[in-house]
Amino acid sequence: TDTPIGQKPMMGFNNWARFTCAAQARLDGTRAGYSFQHFMEDQAKAMKATGLVAAGYKNLTVDDCWMQRTSAGYLHGAAHWGGSSQPGFDWELTGYADRLHALGMEAGLYSTSGEKTCQGVPGGVKGHEDNDARSLAYWGIDSLKLDNCGTTWSDRQQIFTTMAKALKTASTGKDRKILFNESAPAAASGAESVKYKTMDWVRGLGQMWRVSPDITVWPKAAWNDPSAGSAYQGGVYQNFTDTVALARYNGVGNHNDADMLLIGDNKQLTLPEQRSQFALWSVMGSPLMISTDVRKMAAHPKDYQEQLAILKNKDIIAVDQDPLGAGGYLASRDNASATAGIDVVVKPLAGGSRAVTVLNKNSSSVQYKLDLARLGFGNLSCTRIARNLWTHQGSRVTDSISTTIGGHDNAMFTVAPGSCGGAADAVGQIQAAQ
Ligand code: DGJ
Repeated sequence: TDTPIGQKPMMGFNNWARFTCAAQARLDGTRAGYSFQHFMEDQAKAMKATGLVAAGYKNLTVDDCWMQRTSAGYLHGAAHWGGSSQPGFDWELTGYADRLHALGMEAGLYSTSGEKTCQGVPGGVKGHEDNDARSLAYWGIDSLKLDNCGTTWSDRQQIFTTMAKALKTASTGKDRKILFNESAPAAASGAESVKYKTMDWVRGLGQMWRVSPDITVWPKAAWNDPSAGSAYQGGVYQNFTDTVALARYNGVGNHNDADMLLIGDNKQLTLPEQRSQFALWSVMGSPLMISTDVRKMAAHPKDYQEQLAILKNKDIIAVDQDPLGAGGYLASRDNASATAGIDVVVKPLAGGSRAVTVLNKNSSSVQYKLDLARLGFGNLSCTRIARNLWTHQGSRVTDSISTTIGGHDNAMFTVAPGSCGGAADAVGQIQAAQ
């Protein structure tokens, strides 16, 4: 059977941005007998306890450093990891995915296209593609994130192609298919012209792919990361800018990934900035992968009420997961800087509605009048229903919506075709698509 997978943007957890390789401590800081495996399973239980699994965050992906390659050539869990001398613990992968499945979750693993991962861990797929795909299928793994490191431009395309095929072959005839999550080839290519060419092959192989740098890793401030601009680190503003430019590559089963969400205990973003990252990622149709200490949120839910409310906002999740699968496009940008002006991003939704995120890049509050022509609606004299996705209130609107937006905060709405119907807006829809 050939059941389609990854039709909607992935939602879940990845340890990288918040913990990198250093995830082996319990919440109280103790380490003895606590491994990567315990860490991931504890995050999974916390996801369940906080209601994040029920909200849709199902995929738990363990990033770089989790693995080793045995002398026989098989992929295996790390005995110890991070290049450190932490007490050894041999991670037996058998049963791991089953335990996540029992929680209603899915298991994701990481590897790279070269021999060593970006952190120098031997365990990349080069020369082991078929064997590794078989190991993943045997363990019941649901997705593989394949990174860039260790290959050159000439062999990268070939290895990604070989791996995509190996994953398909290994799961042929099985109920569980392995989603191919392509990490950085398009992002790392830098120049736009190279990026577009790279996207041509990347898009044919997997269901999701990164198109922007690594989101700033903990604990650095991440709104407008000053080191953004280097190929490997980007703040929220840069990753949004790079990703929105490639909206045309989005579709059902095809998702531009703007990288991980820093919403939770990270303190890399203020609360308005956390709201804005969520509203932008959703309107772009990006995967929503949390990278935070969910164990801490589960242990102190009162301290993290606002963060959990952002992550569980049903209206905003629905925009991200909309069945049309369109990417949000930049309808207007007043100022090509991260620190001034207003950006408007519009995502066409199934049924003719539009979602819109209005981002206030200024550090102080502004009054903004959103012209509905920006949303691609043709007839501006009829009445439509706008739903504010942060307050969940509906209102009747005609040609515009007036709103006050705090510094680095956003306003987010869906606007239905209303009494105009879909047909009256055909001209507007065509304009919007161009
Ligand atoms: C680069 C990727 O873009 C990151 O998401 C992360 O997987 C690191 N490599 C791990 O080394």
